[in-house]
Amino acid sequence: MNSALKDNLLAGKVAFVAGGTSGINLGIAKRFAQLGAKVAVVGRDPEKAQRAALEIGSGALGLSSDVRDYDATRKSMEQAAEAFGPLDIVVSGAAGNFLAPAIGMSANAFKTVVDIDLLGTFNVFRGCYDLLKRPGASLIAITAGQAINPSPLQVHACAAKAGINQVIRVLAMEWGPDVRVNGISPGPIANTEGMKRLAPDPKTQAAHFERIAMRRWGEIEEVAECAAFLSSASAAYISGAILDCDGGSQLGDASRRDLSRGMV
Ligand code: HXC
Ligand code: NAP
Repeated sequence: MNSALKDNLLAGKVAFVAGGTSGINLGIAKRFAQLGAKVAVVGRDPEKAQRAALEIGSGALGLSSDVRDYDATRKSMEQAAEAFGPLDIVVSGAAGNFLAPAIGMSANAFKTVVDIDLLGTFNVFRGCYDLLKRPGASLIAITAGQAINPSPLQVHACAAKAGINQVIRVLAMEWGPDVRVNGISPGPIANTEGMKRLAPDPKTQAAHFERIAMRRWGEIEEVAECAAFLSSASAAYISGAILDCDGGSQLGDASRRDLSRGMV
């Protein structure tokens, strides 16, 4: 993928990526490091976090804590700030998801996903506030199109991501002008745990492609590029925004553009 972003775009910045030990968020952490930032990534599994740090390179820190636990999350952030200095960039990307009908979902199953995604985002953002380099800090939450467009079998994740969209907007208002708070809403992204869970078989995948304006899934690197842009000085006047990186998925079902099939 060609990037328009300059190599030293984030030089001297410190980034903390919650949920940065795999998938999209790891891709974001790697891109931050390539662009010159010092990076700490956090997940529950300490070995996975260590592996991620090695993969990122550039002296990245791999930490372990659960975003559902405010004190543990705060401690990870303090460790990152002790190692690298005040935080310029914080990404809240930890999430859980599985397909289940509401009727087959226990209250604890619903709560588990809401706690990881929504409470986790509050904990990450609330916890980092006094560790941020201000003014100029950039916070990013990873949300999803399901925040707006309901999706059967994901009542927990849809509700949680909808809540995250409002956390982004409220904190952008409360914490501006010192801190910018934005979201990225990825569409289906290839080679991720998320899409393994949501579209496990080739038939479901083909149906997905058909409906997307760009007729393909996105790449992790394409989402990472959005995070780098939002964290840079080029986005200095962007706050409270939710950037769709979804190939037009949220526009609706693009399979209808084939007139030979008529309107359905
Ligand atoms: C029904 C299920 C279930 C399933 C778990 N539960 N899986 N219920 N169908 N497939 C229930 C359990 O029975 C339990 O309820 C409750 O959920 C908590 O389960 P635990 O296993 O104890 O939870 P925990 O160990 O905390 O693990 C959390 C997890 C797990 C979400 C269940 O899958 C996980 O760690 N996921 C992280 C990785 C991930 O999901 N990545 C994809 C993100 S993709 P009971 O009542 O039995 O106690 C993504 C896409 C976004 O977010 C696009 C859409 C918004
Ligand atoms: P992933 O690989 O499963 O990444 C999830 C990350 O969060 C891992 O690092 C995981 O590490 C960590 N994590 C999970 N629960 C945690 C907890 N309670 N506390 C701390 N860390 C936790 O998922 P992905 O598919 O790349 O998705 C990444 C983000 O993009 C999520 O916010 C997701 O909702 C969003 N998104 C994804 C897609 C997609 O196509 N995949 C589409 C739209 C939005 P541990 O397991 O070690 O904790």
